[in-house]
Parts: sequence; C-alpha cells; structure tokens
Amino acid sequence: MKKRGKNFIGLCPFHQEKTPSFTVSDDKQIYHCFGCGNGGNIFKFLMEFKNISFVEAVEEVAEYLGIKIQYDKGVYEDKQNELEEYYEINILAARYFSDSLLKSNEGEEAREYLKKREIKLQTQRSFGIGYAPYGWGNFLLHARENKADLIKAKSLGLIDINEKGEYYDKFRHRIIFPIFSPNGRVIAFGGRTLEKRDDIAKYLNSTESQIYSKRKSLYGLFQSKEEIRKLDRAILVEGYMDLISLYQAGVKNVVASSGTSLTEEQVQLLSRFTRNIIILFDADPAGQKASLRSIETLLKQNFDVKVITLPRGEDPDSFIIKYGKDKFDELVYSSKNFLEYQTAQFEEEGMFEEPAKATLAIRELVRTLSLVDDELKRNLLLKSISKKFNLREKLVESELISFLNLQNQRPDTRERMTNKNVKLFQNLNTINAASPENPFERELVRLLFSGNEEIIGHIIDRIAPDLYSDPKLRQFAEIAYSGFEEQKYSPAYLIEKINDEELKSYIFKITLVEETISKKWDEISYNGKIVKDSLEYTIATVTNFLISQIEQQIKRNNQIIAESKDERLHLELLTRNKELQEEKKSLINQTNKK
Ligand code: UTP
Ligand code: MN
Repeated sequence: MKKRGKNFIGLCPFHQEKTPSFTVSDDKQIYHCFGCGNGGNIFKFLMEFKNISFVEAVEEVAEYLGIKIQYDKGVYEDKQNELEEYYEINILAARYFSDSLLKSNEGEEAREYLKKREIKLQTQRSFGIGYAPYGWGNFLLHARENKADLIKAKSLGLIDINEKGEYYDKFRHRIIFPIFSPNGRVIAFGGRTLEKRDDIAKYLNSTESQIYSKRKSLYGLFQSKEEIRKLDRAILVEGYMDLISLYQAGVKNVVASSGTSLTEEQVQLLSRFTRNIIILFDADPAGQKASLRSIETLLKQNFDVKVITLPRGEDPDSFIIKYGKDKFDELVYSSKNFLEYQTAQFEEEGMFEEPAKATLAIRELVRTLSLVDDELKRNLLLKSISKKFNLREKLVESELISFLNLQNQRPDTRERMTNKNVKLFQNLNTINAASPENPFERELVRLLFSGNEEIIGHIIDRIAPDLYSDPKLRQFAEIAYSGFEEQKYSPAYLIEKINDEELKSYIFKITLVEETISKKWDEISYNGKIVKDSLEYTIATVTNFLISQIEQQIKRNNQIIAESKDERLHLELLTRNKELQEEKKSLINQTNKK
C-alpha cells in the first residue's frame, strides 16, 4: 500500500481492479474500497478476507496482540449464533456420515468401493469422507435424536420435505465428500452415488445456504493451501476424486473447481495463496471448454496460466493410478502456456486449414493475449504468436492494440461492480442530490467520526440530534451520540454500528476523501490555514451550522407567511423570525469575539 495524504491506498483484495481504490485510514482504523464498496474495521476485514466468523476474527486479533479473551455467553450476536447453529448441524452430519462409513455394517459396500478406487484409510480421514446409507430417514433420525433444528437442516440441503409434509434424507446411498471452508469448517457436502443407474445425478451437492456459496468455494483448498503457498503454484482439477487421488499420491497443491469453469470469486480466493496455476481438466470436450473459460478468468486476475492435456479418455485420477507419480510429474513439467494450448485446440479443430478460419483463430488468440496485464509478458507472447504463424509483428501488434482499446473503453470499476454495489452507488448519488443544502451538516458528521473526544463532545453539547435536517445523517448522529454516552466513539466502533449500507458508504466517502466545504469558507475562516479536526475548526463549524439552520428556518417562515392568509399566524411567525435574527446576531458576535 502507498501513502496518499492521510490514508494508505492500494489494490482491493475483494474485487478485481487495475487502479487502486482500496483505502485504509490508519488514524481512524477503518478501510473502504471505493470500487466495490467493501469496508469496515479490522474485524470486518478479517471476516471478509479470511471467510471467518466475527468470533474467530476477534480471537485472531487478540492472539496477534497477545490479549487474553474472556468469553461471556451473552455477548454473541444473534446472527452469529444462528450461523454457528448451521455449522453445528453440518458437523453433526459429517460425523454421522463418517461413522457410517468407518463403523457401521451398512458401510461395508462403501468401504469396498473406496478400496476398489484405491483410497486409503488415512486419506479418507484427511478429507473426512463418509457414507450416506441406503434409505430415506437415516440421517433424519440421527438429527432428530440430537435435537437438531430440522428447518435449518433443510436449508442446508441435508434433508427435504415431500408433498405429504414429511422430511426425508437427500443424500442416500452415496459416498460423502464434506466441503470445507479455507479455514476448515464444514460448509457443504458432495455425494457420489453408488447406484449404477443413468437416471440419477452422479454427484449431488448441497444447496446454497447461509454458510455456503458454490461460486466462492474451492474444494480441497483447506487441505492444500499450505502446499500451494509453499510451492507458489496450484494445480486445478475438475473433480473430488481427482483431487483426492493426486493428494494421496503426493501431489498436494491441488484444488478442484467441482465440475465447472472457475468463477471470478474462486480465482480471487486462490490469489491469496498463489498466482501461478496449471489447469488439468478432463480430456473431453466439456473439460476443454471449461479450460478455455477458466483461462480467461485467470488472466483477468493476472495469473500465470499453464495447461496440461491428458491422454484421451483419462482424468487426473485415472491417470495417476494407471501411470504413477513420476509420469505425472513429467506431464506437469511439459505443461504448455495458455496460448500454446489454445493454438493446439484450434489446430485440432482444423482452423488453420482455411484462411478465413485461420484469421478468426489468430484474432481469438490475440484477444486472449490482450487480457494479460503485464506489458513485458504480453510482448513476449506477441512475439511468439507472430513467429508461430509467420506474421509480421506489427500486424499482430495493431490487432492487439485494437483489443486493448476496446477494453479500456469500459471503466474498470463499472464493469466489475456487482449488482449490489451498483445499487449502492446509485443510492449514494441520490443521498448527495437530496441534501446539498447544508455543507456544515455534512462536516459535522465527518467530525463526529473523527474519534476525538473533545471535538465530538463539543458537537454533542451544542447540537441536538433532531437538528440534523437530513434524515440519514440524523440516523448517524443518533448512533454517534449514544456511542459517546458509553465512551465508545472510535470510528472503527461506530462504522460497524451502522446497519444501513447506503449511509455507511456515505460516511466512508466523507471521512476518507479529503474535501473542503468550499475554498471561500476555508479562506474566510482561517486565512487559508485550516487545521481540520481541530477544536477551533469544530467550534466554527458548529456555529456556522447553527447560523445556517436559523437562516433556513427564517426562509421557511417567510414562505409560510407569503402563502397563508391567517393574520394571527403571520404575527406569530414574524415575532419568531425576529427572535431568530437575534439568535443569529449573537452567534455571529460570539464568533467575532474569538
Ligand atoms: P466427473 O463426471 O468427471 O466425475 O465430474 P469424477 O470426478 O471423475 O468422479 P468419478 O471418478 O466418476 O467418481 C467432475 C466433477 O463435476 C461435478 C463433481 O464435482 C465432480 O467431481 N459433478 C459431476 C457434479 O457436480 N454433478 C454431477 O452429476 C457430475
Ligand atoms: Mn473420475
């Protein structure tokens, strides 16, 4: 991260970007990304970055600082408790499946199956593999006996409900692969059927739930992350069995995409451990298609991408069992870069036999190349394309430039912002549009977020919460005021008390971006030498806020006078206005005396 003004700024770890918009305020102890909207304090950061719970984040910070935590059952937030309950149900299920594989009589068939597939007991343990027996109510009974919340078990996808309103097991007669979070919590299950039938899915996966999002998780990462970090390289396979087989054979830097091409979120997750990847998908058309799509997603996030092609009909699992680790290492050694791979694919499709098709193919190669961010690397690859196809380098280069221009037309942030964030930004604009009238009000809110006891105290003593005219800002003022009563006024504390996303992002904006109310105001008040966040500045801002509120009130009163015919009301309002003028005068005098 680089220091810019008071803040540090760098590339956001939560979304893909080329120009830094991730901002950290050291004095306020908060972070915010102006590109994707993520923001909060240290706990929020760890929760988001490591995919962990609030309690775990607190534990981590405490350990780092050498602080001993005293636990108090009452303080867990409801939501946290609820999430914990989901995790507990999954643990209950994982134990149940594991026990029925290792200990039960019915497990014999599953044990035989795994033996046939050469999965050792030790490996079964490392991956928590289990077995869901034949029948409709096995786990259900176990869940009932353990007083698990069945509604929650249903939303985890472990059980479902039939037309008669009866619960039943979803995983039946299947080998079970628990899916872990990078931190080792069981978030979902995949189950491989033991039936030899075509009319049921080979693999059944847990549904999306409060604790599981398929797009965001990578199978095997919990077991392989250390090795990936150590070797600074990951091997990407499609299936559960591929991953487990390779791992068992000693190839431990593997992750599995679970049968689809990689999502942006999965690539983001993996980028915490390495940016070098070797794609090893099945040697079938589906695998090839998924490889090409994954290459694009990876290149967009600056990965170095290589590809291994297996002999026809093999998958990584069958290959390593048939040929062994040495032969596998040779494959890894001979992996091609993504362009060579793509070229080979086109060659196989006969694309280079007709000039028209060849043009298309080369254009597609250059398009992929344009996704590479590193200029040096891009130029080297460009040379290799020109050489391979015997094309003038300038020609390929001009093609590349046109793709690059095309990409630049789409702004980084807009293109990649998720829907939620787009909405957030639209809201941000409306909040600004709705309250342009009182810049001092905005400045006060910014000062309420300064973490300075004296400054906040001064504001709170002089301005009641209902004086804030913007309802959103009033809402924040209420949070800040009640926090102050409990001696809690640090920005890092307050930011997490704001539930309204729109307001939160507005606060980030005004506190992290240095803006002046107006040049004129700065010059008038301090001869251009302002020390923002000083008490002096706060006093002036409070006074000016009150003056502008008075002026507005007078204006409103005059408007009512002009529109109404009620003489008694006129008189009343005129008197009120006179008082307001007096009040204003004395405020101005106060300022001048100083
Ligand atoms: P494969 O069909 O290649 O299975 O699907 P596999 O991993 O080689 O399994 P075995 O060797 O036949 O036992 C690859 C991956 O795609 C997902 C699973 O994650 C699987 O591991 N998949 C496949 C599903 O999610 N559902 C399916 O019905 C099939
Ligand atoms: Mn297989």
